[in-house]
Formats: sequence, structure tokens, C-alpha cells
Amino acid sequence: MKVIILGATSAIAEATARLYAGEGAELLLVARQPERLAAIAADLRLRGAARVETALRDLADDGDVAEAFVGFIAALGGIDHVLLAYGVLGDQKAAERDPATARASLRINFTTAAAWALVAAEALERQGHGSLVVLGSAAGDRGRRVNFVYGAAKAGLATLVEGVAHRFANSGPRAVIVKPGPVITPMTEGFANRKGLMWASPETVAAVVRRAADRGGPVVYAPWFWRWIMLAIRLLPTPIFNRLNI
Ligand SMILES: NC(=O)c1ccc[n+]([C@@H]2O[C@H](COP(=O)([O-])OP(=O)(O)OC[C@H]3O[C@@H](n4cnc5c(N)ncnc54)[C@H](OP(=O)(O)O)[C@@H]3O)[C@@H](O)[C@H]2O)c1
Repeated sequence: MKVIILGATSAIAEATARLYAGEGAELLLVARQPERLAAIAADLRLRGAARVETALRDLADDGDVAEAFVGFIAALGGIDHVLLAYGVLGDQKAAERDPATARASLRINFTTAAAWALVAAEALERQGHGSLVVLGSAAGDRGRRVNFVYGAAKAGLATLVEGVAHRFANSGPRAVIVKPGPVITPMTEGFANRKGLMWASPETVAAVVRRAADRGGPVVYAPWFWRWIMLAIRLLPTPIFNRLNI
């Protein structure tokens, strides 16, 4: 099993990589922090990964995405699974005031992620097998005042990945968008009270992500009950939705 992880320093990606390491997979970790990357790679080797390669890259730098991805595949000697995990929550209020802030958030969470997803899809289609799993968010299911710039990017990404899954429907590869609810990771560090049923651990989400690479989809919620919560939220009539502080 050969796995490329884009955004390997993400807490959810790291927890997923540990599951792959436990299976003896070969991993290529891509991220932009050399020390964190080296520490995660060393840990995964100890946890049983057959091989761990690393590549330093700012993934929002979309200069030569296709060429870079070919290099990743060559470094690993092939691919079976690709996990696209990087993203930023961003500052919603700042994005509302400042178009450059909004553009930066949309670029990281949608434009560049879409470019990586598309080059990964090309590679999987060419070889006729393999899985692309992308981390979206339940926040993309309905625009809410607290995070609609982030949500809009994740909504776009979800549509793109669903389209890739549709493209793959009659061939070998698969594509899945995994939509977590709130997860206790560095991304949500500033949130008060990260407790209770609504909050998942990175390990819980990682188990869903790992399974999604093998079966199910094209849209998977993590944990599963977010599918039904978000369905209810999507179905709420606007006058009621507008009165809620969610
Ligand atoms: N936590 C949640 O509640 C939640 C809920 C739904 C969906 N998600 C999604 O899950 C994914 C993983 O997030 P997480 O919760 O694991 O948060 P996290 O631990 O904060 O991970 C986010 C990762 O994205 C990386 N990243 C951001 N911009 C990058 C760039 N330009 N180049 C390379 N790496 C970049 C960060 O790297 P640096 O450390 O170098 O900045 C960090 O490793 C994200 O796509 C997020 O939107 C999270």
C-alpha cells in the first residue's frame, strides 16, 4: 500500500497516517514544517510503516502542481491512496472586511486543494485504480454567519470531489469527500468548551477517513451522525434558520 498525504502535519492526517503505518504501508508525507514533518515520519517508522518519505512544500503554492505530483509518485514508486488534508479555518470577520483575506482563505481551502485533487484524479485514472480521499467539512453544507467563507470553500471542494467520483463511476479508481463535524485539533484550539458528543477526536475521524479510502462514499460524514444533523440544518426553513445562532 503506497499512500501520499498532502498536509501530513494536520492532526487528522497524522492520526490517519498512524493507521496506515500499523498496516505496514509506504507513506509520502507532504507538508511545510520540516521539524514537525521529520518528527511525524520518525514516529510512523516506529509504528510499523514499511517506508516513510517526506517532501517539503507549501501546498498553497500552486505553481507546478502537476509536475510536483508526478515527483511525489516517483519518490514513492507508485500510489494507491491519496489523502488531501490541509486547510485553514481562517478569520471569518477579517474575511468579511478584507477581500485579500477572503481570497487567501478560498485559495488555500478551495483553489489549490482543487488543483491537487485534479492532478491526483488524473494519476489515478491513468493507472486505473486507487483512492482519493479529501477532507471537506460539514460547514460546507449550509452557509452560516460564523464561518461561511471557509464553508463556501469546503462546499466547492465537496462538489469537485463528487464530480471526480462521478467521473470514476464506471472505472477502477474512487474519490470520496469526508465531511467532519467539529474535531479537537489545533484548528479549533481557540474554541471554548471542546467537549461533549458534538466534538470528535482526530482518531475517530481518522478511522472514518481510512475506511473511506476502501469503501463507501462519495460523501462520508465523520462521525456518521453529522449526515443527519446537516440534513436537518439544510431542511430548516430560512425564517427559523435565521433565528438560530449556530
Ligand atoms: N478540526 C475541525 O474541527 C475540522 C472540521 C471539519 C473539517 N476539518 C478539515 O480537516 C482538515 C485537517 O484539519 P485538522 O483539524 O487536522 O487541523 P490542523 O491540525 O490544524 O491541520 C491543518 C493542517 O493544514 C496545514 N496547512 C495549512 N495551510 C497549508 C499550506 N499552505 N501548505 C501546507 N500545509 C498547510 C497546516 O500546516 P501548518 O501547521 O504548517 O500550518 C496543518 O498541518 C482540514 O482540511 C480542515 O478544514 C477540520
